[in-house]
Amino acid sequence: MKIPPVKGTRDFYPPEMARRNWIIDGWKGISIRNGFEEYDGPIFEYLKMYQIKSGDEIVEQLFSLQDRGGRDLAIRPEITPTLARMVNQQINALPRPIKWFSVPRLCRAERPQKGRLREFFQWNIDIIGIDSPEADAEVIFTSLDYLRRVGLTAADVRAKISSRRLLASVLRGMGIENSCLDAMYALLDKKAKLPADAFDALLAEHVPDKEQATRISNFMALDSIDDLQRLVSADDDTRVAVEQLQNVFATLELMGVGDYCVFDPSIVRGLAYYTGVVFEIHDIVGELRAICGGGRYDNLLRDFGGPSIPATGMGMGDCVLEILLHQKGLLDSQVPPRRLEFFVACADATLAKAMYAVAARLRAGGQSANFSYKLGGLSKQLKEASSQNARRCIIIGQEYVDKQELIVKDMASGEQSQVHVDRFLAQLSGT
Ligand code: HAM
Repeated sequence: MKIPPVKGTRDFYPPEMARRNWIIDGWKGISIRNGFEEYDGPIFEYLKMYQIKSGDEIVEQLFSLQDRGGRDLAIRPEITPTLARMVNQQINALPRPIKWFSVPRLCRAERPQKGRLREFFQWNIDIIGIDSPEADAEVIFTSLDYLRRVGLTAADVRAKISSRRLLASVLRGMGIENSCLDAMYALLDKKAKLPADAFDALLAEHVPDKEQATRISNFMALDSIDDLQRLVSADDDTRVAVEQLQNVFATLELMGVGDYCVFDPSIVRGLAYYTGVVFEIHDIVGELRAICGGGRYDNLLRDFGGPSIPATGMGMGDCVLEILLHQKGLLDSQVPPRRLEFFVACADATLAKAMYAVAARLRAGGQSANFSYKLGGLSKQLKEASSQNARRCIIIGQEYVDKQELIVKDMASGEQSQVHVDRFLAQLSGT
């Protein structure tokens, strides 16, 4: 009986695994150079953790299960609630600000589509304990620092930035009740994902007052941070939100990534816990889903029973990123090919024991070394060495029996030298 892979999952054969490792190693390297420390948590948590504050969309997409004691659990669809739980647990012992990163494997029972799967990897960076816009800017900068590092320019990707706080104050100013704000966020988050007329119909359904709906549409169509200046006089909350956004943009400009960034009020974010600056990075053509998304979530730690501590962060999945890098020719050109330092071959089968011993000595010295199980002719073994991309081939022949000497062949130049095995190994280890 053949069993197919589960819908929305991926098998990582060695070439796919090499791509995945390259992406994840890049994320980790960029996190470290931007001053973040790594953490991780369990792959499942209590179901209710995601029901508290992640929002309906995530809850509908949970893979949930019951353990043998009847406890309701769920496989993590995101790591932010785990982060909040972990930080709350040790809040008094942790030096602040907390700047942490993680690369969890996540599961969401989403409808599989281009760039969205049911199991994926997601780079997370979060800064906890800082309420200033510079921390929001640093999260956006670090995301862009990675994209820039892998070769994506301001002509390829755009960081679209807005503010939940601004949206809330503008909506309240237009007469939307506080109690309706969450429903409005969920609705407005669909703007970029739906055709214009479908969105307009949805808006009309939720906001029957035509003038109110038009004012909302007009606000959502603003496309420059300068347009916000005229909102400043509206009220205090709007003024603070506008100033925060202006600070974010000014800091990003100072950090040299201003040309990647635009104000875009249609960025609302699907998750329920965001409270302030929110952002997503998209491919410039706009044909793919978001490459990453994040924002400020100042109430989540408190909602999880901890103190009221501000936080901001983002998550970047590997799926859209990989598609975009592939489209731009930036993937296979950068993923390092398999590399083997040595392939040990022997001139005939009687020398096999020496071959195993030499390979083992190379490995013990920290070198990667392989050999063939099929001791055909030497040329077959050399072919195998080439197919494994070996840098050098060690040939064990009669001179090994006579004088303990190896033939070392450079696979690129074809050059050969003969050297005593002890001297060769000592040279390799630098002694
Ligand atoms: P999110 O918008 O749900 O935010 O996901 C962030 C990113 O994860 C997306 O932009 C996408 O790259 C990737 N992603 C999400 N769902 C899928 C999927 N089904 N398949 C492939 N990739 C996916 C969060 O998860 C927040 N917890 C991020 C955050 C961290 N906010 C603050 N700190």
